[in-house]
This record gives sequence, C-alpha cells and structure tokens, in this order.
Amino acid sequence: MQTKTYNTTPYDDQKPGTSGLRKKVKVFQQPGYLENFVQSIFNSLEDFQGKTLVLGGDGRYFNRQAIQIIIKMAAANGFGELIIGQGGLLSTPAASNIIRKYQAFGGIVLSASHNPGGPDEDFGIKYNVSNGGPAPEKFTDALYLNTKTISSYQIAEIDDVDLDCVGELNINHLKIRIIDSVADYAELMAKIFDFDLIKQSIAAGLINLRFDAMHAITGPYAKQILEGVLGAETGSVFNAVPLEDFGGGHPDPNMAHAHELTKIMFADNAPTFGAASDGDGDRNMIMGANIFVTPSDSLAIMAANARSIPAYAKGISGVARSMPTSQAVDRVAAALNLPCYETPTGWKFFGNLLDANKITLCGEESFGSGSNHVREKDGLWAVLFWLNLIARKRQSVADIVHEHWQKYGRDIYCRHDYEAVDLDIANGIVDHLRRQLSRLPGKSWGDYTVKYADEFSYTDPVDNSVSANQGIRVGFSNGSRIVFRLSGTGTVGATLRIYIEKYEKDITQLDQDSGQALAELVEIAELLCEVKKRTGRTEPDVVT
Ligand code: G1P
Ligand code: ZN
Repeated sequence: MQTKTYNTTPYDDQKPGTSGLRKKVKVFQQPGYLENFVQSIFNSLEDFQGKTLVLGGDGRYFNRQAIQIIIKMAAANGFGELIIGQGGLLSTPAASNIIRKYQAFGGIVLSASHNPGGPDEDFGIKYNVSNGGPAPEKFTDALYLNTKTISSYQIAEIDDVDLDCVGELNINHLKIRIIDSVADYAELMAKIFDFDLIKQSIAAGLINLRFDAMHAITGPYAKQILEGVLGAETGSVFNAVPLEDFGGGHPDPNMAHAHELTKIMFADNAPTFGAASDGDGDRNMIMGANIFVTPSDSLAIMAANARSIPAYAKGISGVARSMPTSQAVDRVAAALNLPCYETPTGWKFFGNLLDANKITLCGEESFGSGSNHVREKDGLWAVLFWLNLIARKRQSVADIVHEHWQKYGRDIYCRHDYEAVDLDIANGIVDHLRRQLSRLPGKSWGDYTVKYADEFSYTDPVDNSVSANQGIRVGFSNGSRIVFRLSGTGTVGATLRIYIEKYEKDITQLDQDSGQALAELVEIAELLCEVKKRTGRTEPDVVT
C-alpha cells in the first residue's frame, strides 16, 4: 500500500483534558487538526508495529469521517489489525472490553461524552491503553509535547472502508475487522449478572422499567439486552436510535437533561425502575418510582450489596471514589473493613488500583460507576447491577435507599455548575480560594466549623506518581464538605464546579429536601468563592 507523508505545523491547543481532547467540531475540521493529534498519539507510542488497534465512537457528527481518516493513518503507521465497531459505533465501556478481550495494543475512542453533538457542537478523541482504560497522565503529557513539535503525518492511500458490513478485509499487511458493536459486551454482562433472575422479576411484574438512551450510543445496547435478552416490554427503551446530534438534546443523564425520564418517574403510577445513559454510554442515572438516587449513594449501595451479584459474590477487594464524590461509600468501606481510596476526578486514576486488585468497585459523583470488568465507567452495567439487586432483594428502589440511609446515615449532596465563565475570572476565583486556605481552619458559620482546608494532591499508591492541584476541599467538623474545582472537559471558557455535601445521621431527619438541607452550605460556598459576586450571575447553570 502506498503511504504519503504530509507536512504540517503544530496547533497549540491540543492538551488532553480530564478525558481526552474535546473541542468544537469546527476546530476538529481545521486542516490537519485531527491528523496532527492522531499522529501525535502514534508518535507517543512504542513497539506497536503489526499490533491491534480498536476503533469506535459514540456516533456523533464527524464520527464516520474521523474513523476513515484514522484507519488510513493507522495503516500508514504500521498497525497490523484494526477492530472497528459496525457503523463506527462502540460505547466507551464496550471499547474497553474489546481492547481487553482481544488483547489489543490500545484503542482510539471518538466521543465528547455527554456534551451535545452536531456541526456546531462538540467532538472528542481519546486514547486507551492495553488494559482497556484511558491513557495515564504520563502518556497524555508526552502526547501534548508531541502535538507542540509535530511536523508531518502519514496517510495510506486506500479507499474508504465500508463500516456497515460486519466482516474482514485485508489490505496488504493490514487486517480490518468490522465487528458487531453489541455482542461481546452483552456476553460480558451475562457473565457478571444473574440474567435468569432479572428476567423472572421482569416477567413477574416486580420490575417495570424505562430506559432513556437519549438518542445516543446505548440505544442498541439497551434494546438488545433489556428488551431482547431480559424481556422488558418493547418500548421500555426509548430515544433508542443514536443520532448524530442526539436529537438536539444534551445527552447527559441527570434530572436537568433527561427530563422525559424524570417526568415519567415522578408521575403517579410511575414504573418501578428508571435509568438513562450518556452520549458514549459510560454514565448512568438511577431512579425508582418517585425517587432519584444520587450517584454517590448509588456507589455506596452497590458496595454494601456487592455480594448479591454473582461476579462479586466472594466479596470485593476495596472501593474508590473521586475526591468530590460524597463520602457515603467511605462509611460502607469502614463498616465492612474494606480499603477505600480517594482519587482525583477522572476515570484514569482508577486504572492502577483496579489492575493491582486494590479495588473492585469505583465511582464518581458525575453519574459514573464501574468495576474491574472493564477499565472505564459503565452505564448499562450500573443499570444491570440495580436490576439484579432489586430482583434479589425484592424491594423497591426507595426501600433499598432508605434502608441504606438508616444503617449508614445520609450524605445529602448536590453539585452546582457555573458554565462558560471567563477564564480570568475563573482563575481569580481559584486563586482567591487558595489564598484563604491557611486561615480557614477553626472559622465558624452557624453549625459549621472548618476542620481542614486544602488543595487536593494525590499520590498513586501503585506507581507513586503525584497529581497536584486537583481541587479545593473545605471540610467541617460535622462531616460536611464543600469542594471547588474547574472542569477539565468543557470546551468554552471555564466551568466552575461546586460540590456540596452534608452528613445527616439523625434517623428522624433522613427524608429532608436536599435543597433546603444544603441551603446554608450553599451560602457558605458563595462567601468563600464569590462566584456570584465576581460573575454577576444569580444562580448556577446546572444543579445536579
Ligand atoms: C467530568 C466529571 C468527571 C468525569 C469526566 C468524564 O469532568 O466531573 O467526574 O470523569 O467528566 O466523564 P470535569 O469536567 O469535571 O473535569
Ligand atoms: Zn461519557
């Protein structure tokens, strides 16, 4: 096959964020922009000649064009085999599974996760390593350096590949396999959960479910598994056809964006179980009739009940949560005498802990949870975990949650996001917070006395790498907490996230309205960071 080398000049904005490189589609469509980044990925890898690369994306606008370009670049750079999801589609957890199952060298996943899609919206690309997980920081740092010095990229002069036909194609030394996007993932889920039991519970009417795929990647996965294999009524999975612009929606599974599901679940005669997933299928929202389960509580409940699930019946080795995630899972870990790790935001920090078997379950407040079955968070896996749990316990979602709070107390929780904040203002807020840290301990507002205030730094217990400046924590002596950090996934200006958590162990107070319960802490947060004062805004853009 003929390959051609193109000269190029660096773009200066290709620094990977929390989860790969995310930019507006128009940015990715600039001449050589995608090519520079992909070539820089390959330039940061060693010894991949003749090896296997997995390729797939969430189907958003520009997915197909990007896949054709990457195929030609991977061919020119000497990969021996490409495994591609049919139609160029693979959910993020499915891609992680394929990398592991077929012992690939790595994978490129095209996704901007929960960000909107379409010609004027977002696109993204990330590299996953051979354990199936996002590349660690030392790789993304090296990759960024390469994007700053790149001078050429290589393209094989071959025809576009038909992505829609499952099958194999050989072009000289390169084998291209187009695989069914769902089959391997469905097989993995059947090994983890008790599908027969879930099926019986659905048939008996104990579980009556609705799943909102938000016109994103999990549509085909959920249709096949929930309706096809487990027998949920046809139509239980809705918004099931993946669209390039997600139907104009924002494919983020929270009550603000999954409003159709939220309406169904808070209606009279609501179904017993509701769930949604995001653009690339790694996030989840869990609901029951008239109840929303916070992701932090969901993780804690999973950890407390892991033994009810066949794959975890022998017990779990430990748990981890990202720093801003509520401390609910810590309480379970303490009670069960399990190791519990607090990591920076982003799934990449769980990889080493999972590989070293220090943890089995992990999660983030941002609607992500997962286990050692892959190295990404996994939306549908969390849904199946809950279905299996409900089927085993024969209890409603609300009863499971209330029983948990009675035993461990409740971490009342919410997150406020201020989006597209001017970069200088956002950095000013963080500097202002930083300057106060040493003076905060001992300071009181009402019932809240600051116990500690610091900037989170993480030392990975496996490879001792240090990740500093990972967000500001203000902890109170009554167990409550406020955390501030700037998002690493936004594409416009800066997004300030404020995470607010109040611990309530008085069993007569467990059912409080979270807005009311957290009002005082929200005021304290404003006194500390002055986001309203400095931006002139009156409220956050999104509350989850
Ligand atoms: C956000 C979430 C984080 C998650 C990431 C990728 O990152 O907060 O937990 O891992 O998306 O889904 P952030 O924008 O906060 O950097
Ligand atoms: Zn996602």
